[in-house]
Amino acid sequence: MIKIEQVTKKFNAGTANEVVALKGVNLQINAGEYVVLIGTNGSGKSTLLNTIAGAEFVDSGKVSIDSTDVTKLPDYKRSRWLARVMQNPLAGTAPDLSILDNFRLAALRTKSKGLKIGTDAAFKSEVKERIAHLGMGLENKLEQNMGTLSGGQRQALTIVMSAMDDPKIILLDEPTAALDPQSAETVMQLVEQIRAEFGVTVILVTHNMRHAHKFGNRLVLMHKGNVQKDLNAAQKAALSVNDIFDWF
Ligand SMILES: Nc1ncnc2c1ncn2[C@@H]1O[C@H](COP(=O)(O)OP(=O)(O)OP(=O)(O)O)[C@@H](O)[C@H]1O
Ligand SMILES: [Mg+2]
Repeated sequence: MIKIEQVTKKFNAGTANEVVALKGVNLQINAGEYVVLIGTNGSGKSTLLNTIAGAEFVDSGKVSIDSTDVTKLPDYKRSRWLARVMQNPLAGTAPDLSILDNFRLAALRTKSKGLKIGTDAAFKSEVKERIAHLGMGLENKLEQNMGTLSGGQRQALTIVMSAMDDPKIILLDEPTAALDPQSAETVMQLVEQIRAEFGVTVILVTHNMRHAHKFGNRLVLMHKGNVQKDLNAAQKAALSVNDIFDWF
């Protein structure tokens, strides 16, 4: 469970450029929920994800994960709970390293005793099997450099990578924004698959209202640094795509 209590986050505090990105946000996300987070540009969605991930520290308020107060924990110390996928498919992977080496790096980042990973045949076969699930044929290209893949292929691999360590929570910030419609569908289906397989909690930020309508079991609208609407599965199911458009 993620609990955000009275969280405020300012940028450039005390200067002429001060922005209050989060204004006393309260939000509780239960294990296994799939929260879709929408809102206009600058409404605070990425900042909220960043405060959950520990990439940004809050100015006031409290962030807890599974009853542990993580408010002051840096991102790498939250990685046992969290994985994160960004908008840019180039982010978070090394283009000059092979697919397999990128998976090794990702595993080393989150595993304290990761020294065996580099040579472990079991690790390779696990990576291969998980990549095969994508149905993109990439399992036969494990030695190919990450940089030679398309944005959609990279993003799909990044998400598979994020799920390798069985995180409890996956944070996705506009993961399909840079992708063509078909790659975007593949990525969204992949999120469904990971949820079905691991029961992971997902928070997805999107500007795609069709996705916001179709996916998830909770819909949260942010506006000017706060939660403006928070719909549960039943309330969400009663909406049409146009109803959601009308919120903007
Ligand atoms: N590092 C930063 N320095 C200064 N201001 C920032 C920083 N990050 C975010 N902001 C500001 O905080 C506010 C919220 O930004 P945020 O990125 O959370 O919005 P968002 O809802 O993710 O928007 P978008 O849909 O455009 O991604 C904006 O006014 C933004 O300019
Ligand atoms: Mg954003």
